[in-house]
Parts: sequence; structure tokens; C-alpha cells
Amino acid sequence: MAEPLRIGLAGLGTVGVGVVRLIAANGDLLAQRTGRQLRITAVSARDRARDRGVDLSGLRWHDDPRGLAEDPEVDVVCELIGGAEGPALELCREALARGKPVVTANKAMLAMHGAQLATQAERTGAALAFEAAVAGGIPIVKSLREGLAANRVRRVYGILNGTCNYILTTMRETGRDFASVLAEAQALGYAEADSSFDVDGIDAAHKLALLATLAFGGRPRFDAIHVEGIRHVSALDISFAAELGYRIKLLGLARMTPNGLEQRLHPCMVPVSAPIAAVEGVFNGVVVDGDFVGNVVHEGRGAGAGPTASAVLADLVDIARGSRVPTFGVPAAALSDHPIAPMAAHVGSYYIRLLVTDRPGVLADVSAVLRDHDVSIEALIQRGRNPDQPVPIVLTTHEAVEAQMTGALARIALLDSVIEPPRMIRIERLAD
Ligand SMILES: NC(=O)c1ccc[n+]([C@@H]2O[C@H](COP(=O)([O-])OP(=O)(O)OC[C@H]3O[C@@H](n4cnc5c(N)ncnc54)[C@H](OP(=O)(O)O)[C@@H]3O)[C@@H](O)[C@H]2O)c1
Repeated sequence: MAEPLRIGLAGLGTVGVGVVRLIAANGDLLAQRTGRQLRITAVSARDRARDRGVDLSGLRWHDDPRGLAEDPEVDVVCELIGGAEGPALELCREALARGKPVVTANKAMLAMHGAQLATQAERTGAALAFEAAVAGGIPIVKSLREGLAANRVRRVYGILNGTCNYILTTMRETGRDFASVLAEAQALGYAEADSSFDVDGIDAAHKLALLATLAFGGRPRFDAIHVEGIRHVSALDISFAAELGYRIKLLGLARMTPNGLEQRLHPCMVPVSAPIAAVEGVFNGVVVDGDFVGNVVHEGRGAGAGPTASAVLADLVDIARGSRVPTFGVPAAALSDHPIAPMAAHVGSYYIRLLVTDRPGVLADVSAVLRDHDVSIEALIQRGRNPDQPVPIVLTTHEAVEAQMTGALARIALLDSVIEPPRMIRIERLAD
């Protein structure tokens, strides 16, 4: 058997401990599959005294994670600290500078510094691998970079945050509102105490930046993503969506348009019959549409110790076998800067919900504004009559330009009979 692969583990939290447990449980299998022992030799975390429920005896301890990069008994650094900057980034730079391969689960760091780190990795001949950074246990990085490498990707989209998907699923199943379901998710440990990274879409947008890079070969550009979270999705919109044959999902989507690369992360209405609509609860799902393969649907657990450790080990297995692919599937120098399609130029269908005073002529006024902005109505629901009282009106549109749609909504909001700002959710028909 070849020499063991000696792993330096930075971070002994949820994922780090998961990696320790996986290697302890499946070490024999990993050795059989790689022809080498995968052995953790050194670790780093903040609190040396904390009992982590795993046996760390005999492992070298580094208070400063950068010590792992320098440690002669570490062949590969596994960065599981997190954070776009700070110790995680310093450790990765230090390891790559020394030609030591790096495995990371850190989407925030890669979304911000991915191109620079990939360039550094190539310069020193070290691998930089990140399967665990996107959609947890789903092997979507390998799928895009290797299994689907022969395809021109037309579109990639997915449910990339299990917390948001759990909240939206529970809202639909129980009819409860966002705040109460979020509070329950926090109590159950499905959502962080500070949930803003999840519910405001930041976490999922980091992953979308990486998916878009794998699919279209541009530099990861977090700043180019249109990001909206799920705070404003109401139980009422979820029930109207069901009535219209849709489910509301927080989707990240990337596609090449005549205006450039479109990357957007926001609540979407998707047809109930679409495979992505069936991805429920804490699960993640990613669909890749390739020009020769068509749609490929991936689903699985997007977070948690076991699924994420599974993805970390997939990268470690590659390194143990000596197999190498460019970090983002193309040489770092070929990571071009695509033109960015402005959200105002997005073309799609829309769901609009208005709360209006029920009086003659309201619908005519709304229709006139939409007509003036080149937006045509596809379907309309007006529930009950209640003269001079507030009533909801829901409508869906045929394809329209986003700038026209938002212009129309700004005008509609000013109409006398419109009581609160219109609510708008984009519809993704996902059929083409
Ligand atoms: N949790 C998931 O399900 C999941 C899924 C996919 C990807 N990820 C990614 O995996 C990474 C780790 O996530 P996690 O959930 O495992 O985080 P976590 O539970 O918060 O663990 C972070 C670990 O990093 C250690 N750490 C923090 N600052 C450090 C420093 N300056 N020096 C040395 N160690 C330091 C902490 O030490 P102490 O324990 O001593 O405080 C802790 O062990 C993140 O990039 C995250 O985005 C997580």
C-alpha cells in the first residue's frame, strides 16, 4: 500500500467533527478505494479544551491554523473554519503558496477570492478542491466539472439553502407566516440564531457564484448576483401560488442571455410538476440543462455533518489517488469576465398581488398602467366582492421586461384605490 495521505484539519465544528467521524467509520473502505490510508495527523481549532465527542489523542494541535500549512507531517490541508476572510483565507493562501493541496467547504471565501486562489493553486501545482462548498452532500461540483464537461450549459438553477427551503415548505404545509416558522426553525436547530445569512439569500448566492463559474467559466462574481431573500414571502402568496399551480422556492439561477450572464437568487414560483418543486424541507436540488444531455436533476442533503463530510472526503479521495482537474474546470487563466446581464433587462413572467379598495374601475386602472408598460395579463383572480372594502387581486403576466414591470408597479402603487405596495414574485416556467 502507498504512503498514507496525512491530513491537517482546520476547524473542529460541525463539518470538522463529521470528517473525523467519517474517516474513523469508513477508513478501511477509503483505503481500499484509494490504495492509501487517509490519516488525520494534525488539527486546529480555537478552544483546545473543548470536548468534541471524538478521539483526538495523538494528533498534533496547532493554535494557529497556518501551522498546518507549515507542518511537515501534513500532506493536505482541510479548511473547515469558514468566513470569507481571516484565518481561513490566510491558511489557504499559505498552504497553496507552499504547494500543499487544499480541500475546503468555504463558499463565502471562494465566492470572493476563488479566482485568485485557483490561480495561486495552479502556479504552485497544488490542488484546490471544494465539493462541500456547494449543496453539501450533492456531488454537483464533480457533476458539472467532470460528468457534464462535454456540454454547453444552457442554464443551471437550484435550491441551495436548506433553511430557506424548510421555512417555505413548512409555511406551505401549515399556512403559518414567515416569522413564526423561522422562530420554530431556530428552536429546532434548523436555522441559526442569526439567520440573516440564510434568509436574506447571501449563503445561497455564494453557492450560485460558484455554480455559475463551473457552468459558464467566468470568475466567481458574488457582486454581480441579484439577491433577494424570503422575508417578504407571505402565507397568502404561497396559497395563491398553489391555486395557480405553482410552488414558491428560493432559487438561484444562472444562464447566458444576449445581454450577458444573468445570475439571480430570489423567491420564484415554479410549476408544481417541475422536479425542483418536489425538493422539500431541508433538501437541496440542482438542475443542470446541458445542450447534449438535457436536464440533469440532482437532489440530496445540502448541509449537516454527514453529508458535508461525505463531500469533503470525495475531494480527499481524489487527492489520495493523485487525480487532478482544474479547480473550476478550466485553467484559471481562462476564467474570463463575462458581461453581466442587468436585472432590469431580465425577461420573464410575473405574479402580482394587490390589495385594493373594491370599487368600480380599479381593474381598468391597473390594466391601463400595465398596457402602458407593455405588460400583458395572463390570468387574474379576484376573490369575492366587498364594496369599498379591501380585497386582494392577483394576476400573472405573459413575458415582460423587468424594467417595464417595476415601472408599472411603481405607477400602480400610486393609484388611489391601491392600499399597500404591490407584491411581485417572478415566475419560472422551467419548460424550455
Ligand atoms: N455546517 C454545515 O452543514 C456546512 C455545510 C456546507 C459547508 N459548510 C462550510 O463548512 C465550514 C465550517 O462550517 P461548520 O458548520 O463546521 O462551522 P462551525 O461548526 O462554526 O466550526 C468552525 C470551526 O472553526 C474553528 N475556528 C474558528 N476560528 C478559528 C481560528 N481562528 N483558528 C482555528 N480554528 C478556528 C472553530 O473552533 P472552536 O470549535 O474551538 O470554536 C470551530 O471548530 C464553513 O465554511 C461552512 O460554510 C458547512
